[in-house]
Amino acid sequence: MKTRITEMFGIEHPIIQGGMHFVGFAEMAAAVSNAGGLGLITGLTQRTPDDLAKEIARCREMTDKPFGVNLTFLPSVNTPDYPGYVKAIIEGGVKAVETAGNNPVKWLPALKDAGIKVIHKCTSVRHSLKAESIGCDAVSVDGFECGGHPGEDDVGNWVLLPRAAEELKIPFVASGGVGNGAQLVAALAMGADGINMGTRFIATKEAPVHQNVKDAIVAASELDTRLVMRPLRNTERVLVNAGVERLLQKEKELGSNIKFEDIIEEVAGVYPKIMMEGQMDVGAWSCGMVAGLIHDIPTCKELIDRIMADAHQIISQRLAKFDAS
Ligand SMILES: Cc1cc2nc3c(=O)[nH]c(=O)nc-3n(C[C@H](O)[C@H](O)[C@H](O)COP(=O)(O)O)c2cc1C
Repeated sequence: MKTRITEMFGIEHPIIQGGMHFVGFAEMAAAVSNAGGLGLITGLTQRTPDDLAKEIARCREMTDKPFGVNLTFLPSVNTPDYPGYVKAIIEGGVKAVETAGNNPVKWLPALKDAGIKVIHKCTSVRHSLKAESIGCDAVSVDGFECGGHPGEDDVGNWVLLPRAAEELKIPFVASGGVGNGAQLVAALAMGADGINMGTRFIATKEAPVHQNVKDAIVAASELDTRLVMRPLRNTERVLVNAGVERLLQKEKELGSNIKFEDIIEEVAGVYPKIMMEGQMDVGAWSCGMVAGLIHDIPTCKELIDRIMADAHQIISQRLAKFDAS
């Protein structure tokens, strides 16, 4: 399937794997790219720019297809060495970058000079328009259903995507809550040029995370995510567990007086414990409502092939039937 997104990134299928902390290692990105999508290494999961350079080199050994790097700008205790990460991306010859969390304007000249296509992930039409105006090449429009940080506007993709289509000139992909071929077709119908998936890609054979994480996603329904850190205006959609219940109790008790330090135990440093060690109750980890649509753990190729086959079948049969009637 050819879309503006497949053309832009030189990929076969209009499917991107969003950056994911402690999931987006070279193994994940290479598996998605080898299956014809665009895999992304998560930059900040690598502790230093040097580590990122090594991860990019490792990914290149696993695939000769295009892959990218996610660079997330989120409030953090110690500001990461962003100039160093950008340098590692450029020197590593990466041609696609997903930015997220904050306005990437400061980094665009260097990235664009290196011929890198930048797709900025945002949760609102106004941020998407801003991304367009500063020169981003594409936008990943992340609806309220998404795993991770849905922002504070709470607009679901059923409205957000057609609103983005009304306003944007640059191509965008539908992100948040996507897991199957019918949703790809719906996204295309609403003006998107592809999809971005996070949670769905964790429940794959190649995702380099503990089996407990994959099993938890398959076991979860669409009712099993919670929003945490809302009082801090840093809302995150996570899978419910004992640590998250504890965090929510603290939010209830402390109300608007809550500070980051009050919940540090449930949010700081939990990703390695969950993703690598499978300690599922230690705290908050991002997971989308799409968990309710995830019932198996295929390879990335099986998943992407299934999504594309279903999409083609829906377009050529189910939709064609309505068109003819
Ligand atoms: C475990 C996990 C970790 C994530 N970490 C990041 C991250 O570090 N940076 C980022 O920009 N997005 C991150 N995301 C968001 C994804 O890139 C993507 O936008 C989101 O998962 C889409 O929603 P979905 O999970 O419903 O597919 C993360 C998502 C998950 C599930």
